[in-house]
Amino acid sequence: MKALTWHGVHDVRVDNVPDPKIQEPTDAIIKVTSSGICGSDLHLYEVLGPYLDPGDVLGHEPMGVVEEVGAEVPNLQRGDRVVIPFNISCGHCHMCQTGLMSQCETTQVREYDTGASLLGYTKLYGQVPGGQAEYLRVPQAQFGPIKVPEDPPDDRFLFLSDVLPTAWQSVEYANIPRGGSVAVLGLGPIGEMSTRIAQHRGAEVIGVDLVPERLARAATHGVRTIDLEEAGSELASQVRELTDGRGPDAVIDAVGMEAHGAPVGKLAHRLTGLLPDAIAQQLMSHAGIDRLSALHTAIDLVRRGGTVSIGGVYGGAISPMPLLQMFDKQITMRMGQANVKRWIDDILPLLNDPDPLGVDDFASHRLALTQARQGYEMFQKKQNGAFKVVLNP
Ligand SMILES: NC(=O)c1ccc[n+]([C@@H]2O[C@H](COP(=O)([O-])OP(=O)(O)OC[C@H]3O[C@@H](n4cnc5c(N)ncnc54)[C@H](O)[C@@H]3O)[C@@H](O)[C@H]2O)c1
Ligand SMILES: [Zn+2]
Ligand SMILES: [Zn+2]
Repeated sequence: MKALTWHGVHDVRVDNVPDPKIQEPTDAIIKVTSSGICGSDLHLYEVLGPYLDPGDVLGHEPMGVVEEVGAEVPNLQRGDRVVIPFNISCGHCHMCQTGLMSQCETTQVREYDTGASLLGYTKLYGQVPGGQAEYLRVPQAQFGPIKVPEDPPDDRFLFLSDVLPTAWQSVEYANIPRGGSVAVLGLGPIGEMSTRIAQHRGAEVIGVDLVPERLARAATHGVRTIDLEEAGSELASQVRELTDGRGPDAVIDAVGMEAHGAPVGKLAHRLTGLLPDAIAQQLMSHAGIDRLSALHTAIDLVRRGGTVSIGGVYGGAISPMPLLQMFDKQITMRMGQANVKRWIDDILPLLNDPDPLGVDDFASHRLALTQARQGYEMFQKKQNGAFKVVLNP
């Protein structure tokens, strides 16, 4: 089959690879019909190379049609239409039972002391072949796949794999009081969807980014936007002006480790791409590799006693943080990979007409799988208005 494979920094290719097969009785095989490219894939494209091998198949936002099921997957049948969560979770361990599917104890990667395995996401998360491919092996298929109705187009449901539950969890963790305010840093797919969900729940929403098309997109549905580049050192005072001088009740960081405006981290990122894997892994686990400008901004902006919710992914083991300010402002911080299945029952009722979260028009580009290389480049460089790229194998 054809699949999008990783070969190095800024080097992904569509290769022919062996078709996946059922390996465990709890596996299923799906024929992929749509597969998103995510901001998290850009970290693989740029920073996390030391944890990948050439030929690894990427992609963790797939949906499709069931082809084959193992002996212990009574919930699925050939022909079912399903969305696959990006975290691989069993549904029956202690963590899954408490709603923390991203910490699943059955699929945790003990070698690296990390949480649940993820589709297509490095050795840190199990090196499981991903879903930017014609076919996908779905482990723990007795629990993960979300069955969806036949009629609406794929995009109505595709974002249940990652964007919707991640944005939902970011808003949930932001703990915005009734009628309160939230500032969302980063208006990529995760941040923009977070603004929609926060608005749907009645919050006043401020959005910050530096890409004009992304600011404009959020402004069309009533987000008060601030251009980071234009605001410069005035960002905090502009946000306070909009929030009674105090700062918003919550700030969501939907940027993560590749934040704009942090030159030191940029050098560390380049280094990790140039060093042999073993040495780069040492560097990454013993030094700060994150570009923390967005997170520091979040801590600075939030009102005293407010909440910072981190949806963006960070990866360095020792990252210097403004502890004095965090303590002095008495803020609450919550974070983590989305517990996808935890939020599906809350979100599904909103995936109906009149499409209150705007999922039908959320993707900016739909490309054939064979054009995936261009899709990555365009999304990373934010060219041609690329906002969310969906591949159709
Ligand atoms: N927690 C999870 O489970 C989970 C799931 C999916 C994605 N993510 C993470 O969420 C983040 C966003 O993903 P995305 O798909 O929206 O990607 P994206 O890269 O398109 O979005 C990031 C946005 O942040 C903006 N930005 C950069 N620096 C900024 C700064 N200093 N201040 C404000 N904005 C800034 C960029 O212009 C861009 O629009 C990534 O870190 C991704 O890894 C986390
Ligand atoms: Zn993703
Ligand atoms: Zn589990």
